[in-house]
Amino acid sequence: MAPVITCIEDLRQLAQRRVPRMFYDYADSGSWTETTYRANEADFQNIKLRQRVAVNMEHRSTAVEMVGQRVAMPVALAPTGLTGMQHADGEILAARAAEAFGVPFTLSTMSICSIEDVAAHTTQPFWFQLYVMRDREFIERLIDRAKLAGCSALMLTLDLQIVGQRHKDLKNGLSAPPRLTLANLVNMMTKPRWCLGMLGTTRRGFGNVVGHAKGVSDPASLMRWTGEQFDPRLSWADVEWVKRRWGGKLILKGIMDAEDARLAAQTGADALIVSNHGGRQLDGAPSSIEALPAIVDAVGSHIEVWMDGGVRSGQDVLKAWALGARGTLIGRPFLYGLGALGQAGVTKALEIIHKELDLSMAFCGHTQLSHVGADILVR
Ligand code: FNR
Repeated sequence: MAPVITCIEDLRQLAQRRVPRMFYDYADSGSWTETTYRANEADFQNIKLRQRVAVNMEHRSTAVEMVGQRVAMPVALAPTGLTGMQHADGEILAARAAEAFGVPFTLSTMSICSIEDVAAHTTQPFWFQLYVMRDREFIERLIDRAKLAGCSALMLTLDLQIVGQRHKDLKNGLSAPPRLTLANLVNMMTKPRWCLGMLGTTRRGFGNVVGHAKGVSDPASLMRWTGEQFDPRLSWADVEWVKRRWGGKLILKGIMDAEDARLAAQTGADALIVSNHGGRQLDGAPSSIEALPAIVDAVGSHIEVWMDGGVRSGQDVLKAWALGARGTLIGRPFLYGLGALGQAGVTKALEIIHKELDLSMAFCGHTQLSHVGADILVR
């Protein structure tokens, strides 16, 4: 019998059963002690919503705008690397689910399906996430490819100049394509759906890199290239350079500090995302929801402030909105959906979050999310 899925946790448990350990762990992990990773979720629980009654709750809408784009709710799919390893052709499936639901999909630089693959299988523009690599010619070409594919916003990630350490990835020997140790092979054999999917696709490497980056010819050179390319010298001048080269909507991701938020706003970018990379970089940083209010206070009237990290329900989206986040991104919730049920699982994750958001907003006495303010929170 098909399992009854009622919440994101149900999708997580199903994904854990269906996705090989190496890739499930890659998604469901944070850096070092995972303190920040856990705090991202836990800190939402400390924020309480104010229930109202005897208010007309008919005719509701959660639709708003993110960087001028109408969205069904203030939720976008976060850029996540190796998504095509959670499920064959994962980026294409997630992009299609997002498009049908009316929320933005963001393709990571480190995706399995390429920009061109996703563009060929979707009808609406998606967003592209950029990492600044040492090879600036490669970056220029990536920006041009994103433009050519019709991407409607560029999301520049600023918090991965160097890479945090995730213990599970080291222990599992994570790589793409997967390193076929005996333990990994045995584990994969217990995931027949996943294996069948992978046999049915040719997309198993980093689609944006292979055939595009200099010196990348086989899995070994690809892994070496990936390890060496994140640029530790990234500066605000690079942000200006990317902005000029791109020329369209620009979103800066990975801001956790009010001073950095002021510098981000000064670049003239359209939005910034309060994010600690889902607890995968600086372990010991505050949760994103804890960092949000100070950043909204500092720059909220100059630039759209969004957040990500730990959003696992529509109630979380509502709380973030009430604290001033004009958008949220979800990473793991959609990855769990994808690993559990493919495209239908991503749709399910979006449906769950939307329903929770819609009903919780009504319980707080509102019918239009755009009218909701901080007064729905218990102080
Ligand atoms: C990420 N994240 C990320 N961010 C980014 O800018 N580029 C990337 O390629 C990736 N890759 C990536 C892989 C995986 C498996 C995860 C879980 C996350 C971070 C991501 O965009 C987002 O900030 C977090 O996932 C948000 O936290 P939640 O929703 O996963 O709790």
